[in-house]
Amino acid sequence: MKRLIIATVCLALAGAGASAQPRLNENNIPEVVKAMTTEEKALFVVGIKKDEPPYKGKYLPGTGGVTYPIPRLGIPSIVMMDGPVGIRLSKNETTCFPTGLLTAASWDRTVARTIGEAIGEESLDMGNDVILAPGMNILRNPLNGRNFEYFSEDPVLTGMIASAYIDGVQSKGVGTSAKHFAANSQETNRLDGDSRLDTRTLREIYTKAFELCVQHSQPWTVMASYNYLNGIYTQESRDLLTLILRNDFGFKGLVVTDWTGKRNTPRQLNAGTDLFMGGDPKQTAHIHECLANGTLKMEDLDRACTKLLELIVKTPAFKGNKPSLKPDLDAHAKVARETATEGMVLLKNDGTLPLEPVRTALFGVYSYDLIQGGNGAAWVNSPYVVSAAEGLRNAGFELDPGLEKLYRGYASFISEDLKSNHKVNVHVGDAQKPELEITRELIQNTAENNDIAVITLGRISGEARDRILTKDFLIQENEKNLIETVCEVYHAAGKKVVVLLNICGSVETASWNYLPDAILCTWLPGEEGGNAIADVLTGKVNPSGCLPMTFPLDYFDAAGADNFPYQFISDRANESVVHPERRDMPLKNIAYTDYTEGIYVGYRYFCTNSKPVSYPFGFGLSYTTFAYSRAGVKVKGANVIASVTVTNTGSVAGKEAIGFYVSAPLGSFKDKPSVELREFGKTALLQPGESQTMTFMVPVRQLASFNSEKSRWETAKGAYKAFFGADVTKPGAEVAFKLSSAKNYPATHACEPK
Ligand code: BGC
Repeated sequence: MKRLIIATVCLALAGAGASAQPRLNENNIPEVVKAMTTEEKALFVVGIKKDEPPYKGKYLPGTGGVTYPIPRLGIPSIVMMDGPVGIRLSKNETTCFPTGLLTAASWDRTVARTIGEAIGEESLDMGNDVILAPGMNILRNPLNGRNFEYFSEDPVLTGMIASAYIDGVQSKGVGTSAKHFAANSQETNRLDGDSRLDTRTLREIYTKAFELCVQHSQPWTVMASYNYLNGIYTQESRDLLTLILRNDFGFKGLVVTDWTGKRNTPRQLNAGTDLFMGGDPKQTAHIHECLANGTLKMEDLDRACTKLLELIVKTPAFKGNKPSLKPDLDAHAKVARETATEGMVLLKNDGTLPLEPVRTALFGVYSYDLIQGGNGAAWVNSPYVVSAAEGLRNAGFELDPGLEKLYRGYASFISEDLKSNHKVNVHVGDAQKPELEITRELIQNTAENNDIAVITLGRISGEARDRILTKDFLIQENEKNLIETVCEVYHAAGKKVVVLLNICGSVETASWNYLPDAILCTWLPGEEGGNAIADVLTGKVNPSGCLPMTFPLDYFDAAGADNFPYQFISDRANESVVHPERRDMPLKNIAYTDYTEGIYVGYRYFCTNSKPVSYPFGFGLSYTTFAYSRAGVKVKGANVIASVTVTNTGSVAGKEAIGFYVSAPLGSFKDKPSVELREFGKTALLQPGESQTMTFMVPVRQLASFNSEKSRWETAKGAYKAFFGADVTKPGAEVAFKLSSAKNYPATHACEPK
């Protein structure tokens, strides 16, 4: 009896304790917030110093960030890891998938989704709750150091590829972080540079992709960028984070800062920032100070806590995931190889490709030392990287042994030399390896014993530094000499030359692309890159990638090219950290960058102004040919429905990427790009003679332009022209439709330049 009474009393106490001290679940978040002390709230929204006691050693080395746990309320810490092309850890234990440009060049949502799914699976294996990806800033300029992580110069291609990637990751119960919101299109002075642009440009170009991916896929988190936008840090911009992102776009998740130190904490919280990463105890102290002096409202802090709890209850950590620490590297290597072949772009082919495995003279240091990904947060320490040399050998090619020995020796020498000469910045990562000078005599010797020459040109870039016009965009003299001499010698011997572009962004091609017989743009194709290159060169896979950006004839051809730090040479691009004395200097393109080209980014400028380019947006060749027929379009309710039949008219199987481009009437706008991509897709693998009908549905709202004065989206009435085809300069089939009335869609008026 006595025992029973004690047990009953204990149960009653436990019950009372439970209501005073709830344990977090999906349904009691408001109660948990109420139960948190102010002390806990101020710690909770700031990431922990994971490399210092008491946390040191608890998380895998290389982990991006971790949140503060509150065990008494059943709140675990959750883990965030980089990045877009795979899990970035310090050890070589995760898969490096192809980079963003290649993914977008597939013009295929399933490619992005497949990569996302595999990264989601590796996240579960490695104990990651949120992947800090996709990176989805717009390619405003060819020289942005992080272009390789991003997708395109076009917001629809960017937004929908990002969306598919997000769906893939999140289908595994792992979160994403769409980054970096917004107008973060350069690395120079990345912590403090001010991107200055008008509202229409912001809405139509720089936030459009985020709008699309929020509406289609609701990333669990969005990462607010480092930069200022029109004089206000994006992380402190209520216009951007609350009015546009949450209210207009309908974002339901959490806003996390990019890995920033202390800024104006109350302003950040009030703006809509919920989580401060990487996290600095100064930020917790600042929260207390601001609560005490009244600049921070408890309701803003409570909202941030609520958003973080809403995120936590969805995560693997909360659901009891037990990381195996053993990702399925074999299965994911297969994914890396297959997806890599989908986005390689055949820029030129006189019939040389596809190739039988033959005796090959392989030139260029990057033929033996593939650049699988770019530097910084998107770098993945994969267990291995297959170079073009290895890939070709695996496919049965015989490589010239003398050249191989020479280049391999040079590659290891130059790596060491760059390291010991301190040219490798820890954060920025590997430096560009200069090309080896090769004599004509040596080239002539190789021509006797080989059937073909393959030359790889490489370009690496990464976080915290932009590329430099003369060093990175332009072809270097020794590269040009190599192409010229190899072409002269091999052509004289009746042999062909193929160039591989292992590049992080566009390069100048017009001065040399007439020389080789075939050019394949491989981008930075991930750890299986070499095998994927061999798959495409041999025709095991018929290339179907199309450029996600324009390759200009000349850097200065693009509008706004002057308004970029195109020749800014510095150790690091965190200018205001390295040179605090320059912080308040009005240095053009460093302290601030004027987006003078407005909405005329990439093909929007070149097409509207009929400017010739080296390779247009959407360009990409195949080993087969396609014909378009039965093109039709109709307006049905709030949507435009367009369809076209694509037939493989060649002799080998292939896939065709297709864009649906629309030219709108002017309506109330002074100017409109002559053409804009509104939808896209890719056929299945079509056998010769096989057809597929592709149908695209575009909301009438997505045809709108942003009227900043009236703060609304406007779709003009009138006659629209449209066409199908990936290459923006080559309509495959044209159609027309009419909208009988104009449509207006109200939006928030925000982020006008101050
Ligand atoms: C980068 C982010 C990255 C974060 C965490 C920042 O420097 O800009 O893209 O996710 O670091 O590593």
